[in-house]
Amino acid sequence: MNPLNHVAIIMDGNGRWGLKYKKQRNAGHKEGLNTIEKIIKVSIKQKIKHLTLYAFSTENWKRPKSEIKYLFSLLENFLLTKIEDLNKQNIKLKIIGLKNFSPKLNKLLRQSEQKTKNNTKLQINLALNYGSKFELINAFKKLKKSKKKINEKNLNDYLQTKDIPDPEILIRTGNTKRLSNFLLWQVAYSEIFFEKKLWPDFTRKDYNKIIKMVTFNE
Ligand code: IPE
Ligand code: IPE
Ligand code: MG
Repeated sequence: MNPLNHVAIIMDGNGRWGLKYKKQRNAGHKEGLNTIEKIIKVSIKQKIKHLTLYAFSTENWKRPKSEIKYLFSLLENFLLTKIEDLNKQNIKLKIIGLKNFSPKLNKLLRQSEQKTKNNTKLQINLALNYGSKFELINAFKKLKKSKKKINEKNLNDYLQTKDIPDPEILIRTGNTKRLSNFLLWQVAYSEIFFEKKLWPDFTRKDYNKIIKMVTFNE
């Protein structure tokens, strides 16, 4: 049995991949979707319960408008064309982050969550407009208002990751060694892997190797 409950991934390096191979950053974002599909398949095979993917940070709003627009058009297209398939595979989709996009995208995100909410095989937590500092401040505010005791358990209840176990593994591709405001509280005890490869070049084999390294010592 694979003891892994949760793998979280910072999918970094799309822009550099695009520039290197196609002379435009957006081509890397598109290519990165293929890696997502591969990693989902391996996660299912490995019986991992939660896969959290960092897709857009609260800081990513500082990027050029055209890149932001392209990223969200990719997301919209992905959901429209793949949600049926994800649903058939018994995958549950949950969005973590603040859903304050266009009414059209908000609706699509809500519908996608709704459609898959009873699925049980793999839960994909898509971190979208997500920032850990915002999440923590918000949680502390709510906890204070509730007048409950300030402790770990009560704080957890107000995080967007409520009901999601902490990740055993955090992976960041793209040869950058930082957390970029991702799950700061939740990764307190995770094993962290910084991968040199850019996200579109990250393979099933690379992913399996990391999983094996962690589960081997269990
Ligand atoms: C990560 O790749 C994907 C998103 C932030 C959406 P980047 O776009 O950060 O790629 P690099 O790091 O610039 O190569
Ligand atoms: C982190 O990547 C965010 C996502 C992968 C969505 P970035 O490439 O945006 O990270 P920083 O801001 O450069 O650290
Ligand atoms: Mg980056």
